[in-house]
Amino acid sequence: MTAPWWQTAVFYQIYPRSFAASRPSPTGDLAGIAARLDHLAWLGVDALWISPFYPSPQADFGYDVSDHCDVDPVYGDLADFDGLLAACHARDLKLLVDLVPNHTSDQHPWFQAAQSSRDDPKRDWYIWRDGSPDTPPNNWRAAFVHTPAWTWDDATGQWYLHLFLPEQPDLNWANPEVVEAMHGVMRFWLDRGVDGFRIDVVHGLGKAPGLPDDPEGTTLPHATLNDTAENHEIIRGLRRVVDAYPGDRLILGEVYLLDTERVATYYGHADELQLAFNFPPLYTPWKGRRWRDQLADTERWIEARGGWPTWVLSNHDNPRHRTRYGSEARARASLFLLLGLRGSPVLYAGEEIGLEDAHIPPDRVVDPGGRDGCRAPVPWTGDPDHGWGVTDPWLPWPPEPDVRNVAAQVADAGSIVHLYRRLLAARKASPALQLGDHAPVETPDGVVAWRRVGPEGGGDRVVAVNMGAEPARLDVAGRVVVASDGAGEGEPFGGTLAGDSAVLIEP
Ligand code: GLC
Repeated sequence: MTAPWWQTAVFYQIYPRSFAASRPSPTGDLAGIAARLDHLAWLGVDALWISPFYPSPQADFGYDVSDHCDVDPVYGDLADFDGLLAACHARDLKLLVDLVPNHTSDQHPWFQAAQSSRDDPKRDWYIWRDGSPDTPPNNWRAAFVHTPAWTWDDATGQWYLHLFLPEQPDLNWANPEVVEAMHGVMRFWLDRGVDGFRIDVVHGLGKAPGLPDDPEGTTLPHATLNDTAENHEIIRGLRRVVDAYPGDRLILGEVYLLDTERVATYYGHADELQLAFNFPPLYTPWKGRRWRDQLADTERWIEARGGWPTWVLSNHDNPRHRTRYGSEARARASLFLLLGLRGSPVLYAGEEIGLEDAHIPPDRVVDPGGRDGCRAPVPWTGDPDHGWGVTDPWLPWPPEPDVRNVAAQVADAGSIVHLYRRLLAARKASPALQLGDHAPVETPDGVVAWRRVGPEGGGDRVVAVNMGAEPARLDVAGRVVVASDGAGEGEPFGGTLAGDSAVLIEP
């Protein structure tokens, strides 16, 4: 049996506001993405996930959707979307859209109707509770705003639930009409030809009956704790929708529970998510021992139940790993984790040119969740407008855009973007790296190393990442295929790995 496409694919996340603009504009658009696809094809990624571009008041920059089946005029229109999808498929790139099923915007017609009266037929599409205006129905905390997850609606005299901003009321997935409506949204995009969905807060959908309090004294938002039995039947329903279409359509879920054992349960028995984000590695510091623990957890919980892991180090919700790890050498070496470990990697636009988070002065802050730095626009050229047609985009440029831009790096064979390209090509050429099993390789403490075993026998690869500052000995004989610092590629491996560096070896 051949593996489904999403097992061998390398995914690339695009935050549409910050990727590229097709006309002079402080924000990006869908036609801007289409115009840059050649860069992505040159780079060698296989599938794109585009963060929300739907009509939205932008209280959470698109994750507050007011119409799930259209394009916000800021980003273009449905014809632009169809053009982008066709342009992706013409280049053999898959395309995932971002499904946001846990909540809508408070400006969505569904919520407007629900809020209009207690008797409105859509009232029960959201989660309302009686009470007095000074005591919320339970102790759940909202994400980002450090307030209760409930807002009192004066006009109708009830509380409504929102795990995120008050402008993002939670849908009631216990209501079959909501389930049917959201399945309809999925079919709308599947019928247009998308290859699947990244699903936002998929572990948030099913609320426990009675909405029991979170543990007393917890300061964590309920959105990081909502791990319910109800979720699993809901997710099986989502899976049945995509499975009714040909071509291995994918659901890749954001399961933001910081526990790999719990994340693993969302693979179900091959009947829930095909892929789940697992964030504990993203929060793991640059330390060999800590990373070895992450690899062991992934094997013990995800692989042991037949799940296919994912690997991600940066996205639109967290400081970029180049910024967290503190050096380009480490950013380069960490690519060998993403592309060398068993599973599907998800890259975040701009990491291939080693972007750091932008510095955001207080008067430029726009996100209530403090995530502006990693969302800064991608500089495409060294010109003053960096390829955007305007010099002052919606967020400040990331550091050093004059040199750290796509054009300058593509022109420099020693730059990080060429490392991405070489390692992506090496992965594509190696069945062992794409699909092979893995086995640990003995190493000193600061080094993480593993062997990927060719599925047909032969063709093994060894990957080693030295997270220590000092050079380390590595007892592996073979040819260096790719090195994070470019040293010795094509030559026999000399047995020493420099500090904060990584290597791919063909034994
Ligand atoms: C997810 C998204 C994040 C968004 C939140 C609410 O965590 O990744 O950006 O703010 O859901 O939709």
